[in-house]
Amino acid sequence: MALINENYQKLSKNYLFSEIARRVEKFQNENPNAKIIRLGIGDVTQPLPQVCIDAMKKAVEEMSDAKTFRGYGPEQGYKFLREKIAEYNYKRRGLKIDSEEIFISDGSKCDCGNIQEIFSIESKIAIADPVYPVYLDTNVMAGRTGELKSDGHFEGVVYLPCTEENNFSPSIPDEHVDLIYLCSPNNPTGTTLSKDTLKKWIEYAKENEAIILYDAAYAAYITEKNIPQSIYEIEDAEECAIEFRSFSKTAGFTGTRCGYVVIPNELFGKNKFGEKILLKDLWLRRQTTKFNGTAYIVQRGAEAIYSEEGQKQIKNLVGYYMENAKIIREGFEKIGMKTYGGINAPYIWLKTPKNISSWEFFDKLLNEVNIVGTPGAGFGPCGENYFRLTAFGNRENTIEAMNRIKNN
Ligand code: MLT
Repeated sequence: MALINENYQKLSKNYLFSEIARRVEKFQNENPNAKIIRLGIGDVTQPLPQVCIDAMKKAVEEMSDAKTFRGYGPEQGYKFLREKIAEYNYKRRGLKIDSEEIFISDGSKCDCGNIQEIFSIESKIAIADPVYPVYLDTNVMAGRTGELKSDGHFEGVVYLPCTEENNFSPSIPDEHVDLIYLCSPNNPTGTTLSKDTLKKWIEYAKENEAIILYDAAYAAYITEKNIPQSIYEIEDAEECAIEFRSFSKTAGFTGTRCGYVVIPNELFGKNKFGEKILLKDLWLRRQTTKFNGTAYIVQRGAEAIYSEEGQKQIKNLVGYYMENAKIIREGFEKIGMKTYGGINAPYIWLKTPKNISSWEFFDKLLNEVNIVGTPGAGFGPCGENYFRLTAFGNRENTIEAMNRIKNN
């Protein structure tokens, strides 16, 4: 029999959102009449913007004619999309990211999970706690950690606790690390990192020759003016940061799949001889070997948001979900429960009542009011006694969910 990758056995049996889906399915089977409202996984519910639909329909037509048909596309993504991203998301904001530094993918989850492959297995990683589980799980799978300890932490990982006391903003480690995962707006806490905070992280990264892996999948949800949408708004970030962005939450592409990674020309790692190696070249090598590019039709759909009309439509879409966030935040405030996030992010993070465990609260909400959320503990031990709700439901369900909670 073939030997397995033992590292997988260090992980819990199911990925967080698969475990939630399993429990919800079991509950639904046992309670077929329950009208479950799903505010657990951050999956969008509203249709794709019309500009995307039109562009994709046109692209399908092109595929029906041998003269305009496309087979394999460039692994880095079509230039038409990379150039629009560089123009709209960076150049127009005064940032000098070029289309050659952008790599189109089938979503940020894959990019955030795969990026660790281009770094040494010996790399020391720092990860916020709580945080999106993909960063940690993929490093465990790769063998970059030891065993799971009784405190819920893996050996060999530097955890950065994010608590109410530090406004859910991770502190700079007092030891050397090589890779730092930061997520802003944050999943799950919905909080953001300020320019001053990011400056400190960049100083640390430069001093330690570390790389910041900056997940900005929710950048479109930032409503406050002074919050950076990109890490490259901070001086010298091109020398020490990789940025991940996504069309999933920006334009409703969770099922359509499209995201991108920015790896600047100034960003280097080093080999065992101490020679500087361009990280962008390694990522291109990885992508050309393991990935055949995102579908042409999808990239045309993504491109469509970069027009005056496209920008208007995604603004409306984001606005719709942020109104839901407000309904959830205010609903909890009315019943005296403290919430975090929901201002610059589509996630609302709350303390469980009477300090009950986050999985107990999950069961209580599911059983008593048929609402699904995500237990904070699923994002790391510091998420215990917290709970996450998403604003990605439809309006009717969001209002109904808050009424059920209020009246319970
Ligand atoms: C979440 O609920 O945290 C998101 O759906 C995760 C993701 O985008 O993969």
